[in-house]
Amino acid sequence: MHHYTQGKPTRQGHKGIPEGMFEEEQGLDGFYGPVSHLIKENPSTRWVNIDGPLKPRMFDLVKLEQNSGMQRLLYNNDITISSLWLHPEPLDKMTARRNADGDWLYFCHKGGGQLLTEYGILDFIPGTYINVQKCITHSFLLKEVSQFFVIENRTSHFIEPDRGIVGRHAPWDMNALGKPDLDRLHAVIREKHLDIRDINIKHADEMTKITYDGNIFDVVGWKGDLFPFTLHMDHIMPIMSHRVHLPPSVHSTFVARGFVVCSFLPRPLEEDADALRVPFYHQNIDYDEVLFYHAGDFFSRDNLHAGMMSFHPAGFPHGPHPKAKDKVKTKTHTDEYAVMVDTRWPLKRDPFVDRLELGDYWKSWMKK
Ligand SMILES: [Fe+2]
Repeated sequence: MHHYTQGKPTRQGHKGIPEGMFEEEQGLDGFYGPVSHLIKENPSTRWVNIDGPLKPRMFDLVKLEQNSGMQRLLYNNDITISSLWLHPEPLDKMTARRNADGDWLYFCHKGGGQLLTEYGILDFIPGTYINVQKCITHSFLLKEVSQFFVIENRTSHFIEPDRGIVGRHAPWDMNALGKPDLDRLHAVIREKHLDIRDINIKHADEMTKITYDGNIFDVVGWKGDLFPFTLHMDHIMPIMSHRVHLPPSVHSTFVARGFVVCSFLPRPLEEDADALRVPFYHQNIDYDEVLFYHAGDFFSRDNLHAGMMSFHPAGFPHGPHPKAKDKVKTKTHTDEYAVMVDTRWPLKRDPFVDRLELGDYWKSWMKK
């Protein structure tokens, strides 16, 4: 399509927005496709009422009980987003799990420990993504009670993002992946006298337990390019420009058929005097957006703490809260760690999640 302008646009997106005006980006294909920047006299978040189910929502996952187990929050055909609280199992009663419905991407929010897999052992701490592909048997050996933000990929397998012009070593280097260690798996099994015989398998969201006559972790060697791995947020190198605010797509960490997983990490703010330094107002027209706040200071939103999850369905614009523009003036860096999941098709809410909702979140852009 042709590039076209009307009225008084800016020369460069997210820069030189006239004083007192607001820029809104309207884009297709999740910031990859056709896009326009509209200069408006008022932000499009100045609604005074929303009547109907479509509205921005915020959920406080800190309210989830530590014994709530795997709790589905949002879902569609491609993806299930859940919270998982796990307690350490007694060593003589340890079990394994396997997901025949899709890949599990566990993001460790609290706690830590080791994941035993047939391919070897993986270590994790808060901030670690653990990618366990469909049907790979695994078992958690936890140091303490742990909470995970879990993304189930039901219609594809995770791949690395399109690295394009940034080359092969950003935003993360393939060598930064944590690989399973088979020798250490056997050492841990010997040392702790583990004899894990039960596998709980999820298929069509129904559970089946298979019991074996001996320890299931008996692999003595393997080769191939299918194996579970970890990636810690500290090993992701955020892409930024010191001159202009870049779209969230530069923070893509893993890509799936119907959605993308992005990591927001601490980074310097834009330096140019005329650069927008907070996330721009936008309509990510084709995608529902979910953000899980892991750690840090989330200055672009009011009353936000770690462990919360926002849900911004497609269909309306959003952007920074009114106070964020002033707050950012004193800042040189962002200090936030968050996981974003953008889905191509609309997400449904599990009825359970509504009890965690902060009902007035949609009013938080309104002038107080
Ligand atoms: Fe957004």
